[in-house]
Amino acid sequence: MTTATAAEAAYVVAALLFILSLAGLSQHRTSRSGVVWGIAGMVIALAATVGLASRSITTTGLVLIAVATAVGAGIGLWRASVVEMTGMPELIAIMHSLVGLAAAFVGWNGYLDVDAGGHTGQEITGSLLRIHHAEVFIGVFIGAVTFTGSVVAYLKLSARIKSRPLMLPGRHVLNLGALAAFVALTAAFVARPHMGLLIAVTVVALALGAHLVASIGGGDMPVVVSMLNSYSGWAAAASGFLLANNLLIVTGALVGSSGAYLSYIMCKAMNRSFLSVIAGGFGGEAVVASDGADQGEHREISAEETAELLQDASSVIITPGYGMAVAQAQYPVAELARKLRERGVDVRFGIHPVAGRLPGHMNVLLAEANVPYDIVLEMDEINDDFAATSVVLVIGANDTVNPSAAEDPASPIAGMPVLHVWEAAQVVVFKRSMATGYAGVQNPLFFRENSQMLFGDAKQRVEDILRSLDASAAPVPAMVGTNR
Ligand code: TAP
Repeated sequence: MTTATAAEAAYVVAALLFILSLAGLSQHRTSRSGVVWGIAGMVIALAATVGLASRSITTTGLVLIAVATAVGAGIGLWRASVVEMTGMPELIAIMHSLVGLAAAFVGWNGYLDVDAGGHTGQEITGSLLRIHHAEVFIGVFIGAVTFTGSVVAYLKLSARIKSRPLMLPGRHVLNLGALAAFVALTAAFVARPHMGLLIAVTVVALALGAHLVASIGGGDMPVVVSMLNSYSGWAAAASGFLLANNLLIVTGALVGSSGAYLSYIMCKAMNRSFLSVIAGGFGGEAVVASDGADQGEHREISAEETAELLQDASSVIITPGYGMAVAQAQYPVAELARKLRERGVDVRFGIHPVAGRLPGHMNVLLAEANVPYDIVLEMDEINDDFAATSVVLVIGANDTVNPSAAEDPASPIAGMPVLHVWEAAQVVVFKRSMATGYAGVQNPLFFRENSQMLFGDAKQRVEDILRSLDASAAPVPAMVGTNR
């Protein structure tokens, strides 16, 4: 078997492993094995690619590849091991930016290699050359859009720049103009390639990527992150065409299509139009809500009183949000669920699709704390059950339980499906203050008659409740209550 055939065979195995990985990652139960399949696929893919390349590159080239792989793997391992769950979205965004940058470089390399005289392989002529030029242009364009879009997403998610949307006048015209310029430049480049045209499309794409993401409001960033995930996949696929690497094409298409589908699911979860996400700037037109309106008084409850409430409850639904991740409260929350279930209380979790800061954020935390999968329900599965529930514990969630999304058409998050927690008999909201959530929108839930606020760090408050429950369950000491 030649090296090339062995490499192609290895690519097929790697592609199958990537498909298995995606299938595994789609469910909590199988997600760990999904990660293992993905790592195995990537190791095989890298080994096959380096093996293939070793036929035509010098020892110095191989040493450089080894050094680059070691440095890249080292940085990846370090970042992944130190990142907090709350920092995952920005880590993902910055990773996407690297995929975009790599795709843009591969595109530029394709141009320099063939058109600027560096090509050492077979001569490319006629229609194949025109296809090559189109590949270069599309690869550079998608890569550069992904690069700057992801960098701006990273800056917004890590709060290094304001998450408020940039509202340039005529911004949709600007976006459409950039797309039209791309089409015109592509046609010109395919007909007569010139470095000036490639520089022009690089600049247009860099500006378009930055503008698309800058004009999207904070509350809509989750969709942007998954959209950029999809773009990075298409950028990798474009590189695959340029490098004639089948595995890169397959992998890029897998990432591109799964990212696009995830974006579609999230758009549905947030009641956003998929097309307007792709166009960018869709979040900016939101009406400013009647936030300043007097919402009335809120009521407070203590951890001890919450424990009493829970002891008398027959059914409890816990709806976690970003604050549970910040407080790392998943372990005491899991313990609370376990204790209440031991006492015969029907405890379930209601998970909003965009609770937290990345898809599946809450599911990962609850799985980490060994909460049984069968009591963790998605929003659609549990939303009709709140009305028949004794107590809802809203643990560090805000936007995802905001009734104004369902009831106030003037709300900036109007139409976003939310968990109907306010329909329960009693609601206890765990948070540190009356501050707004991610979308910056006031939450009328906090002022409802059946709602009470339990202020403080979510982990500490849940631990206080656990102590109260333990104290009430502890056997009465022999001395106490005896008539001496
Ligand atoms: P948010 O609306 O962000 O609210 C989180 C709440 O947690 C805040 O109101 C905060 O109030 C509270 N909190 C923070 N730290 C806390 C702590 N240590 N202890 C107790 N409470 C704490 O959360 P959500 O309901 O999960 O909604 C998610 C939001 O993020 C949505 O708007 C969504 O669109 C957006 N988003 C989601 C994603 C994905 S993919 N899931 C990605 C990016 C953005 P205090 O400050 O008063 O404590």
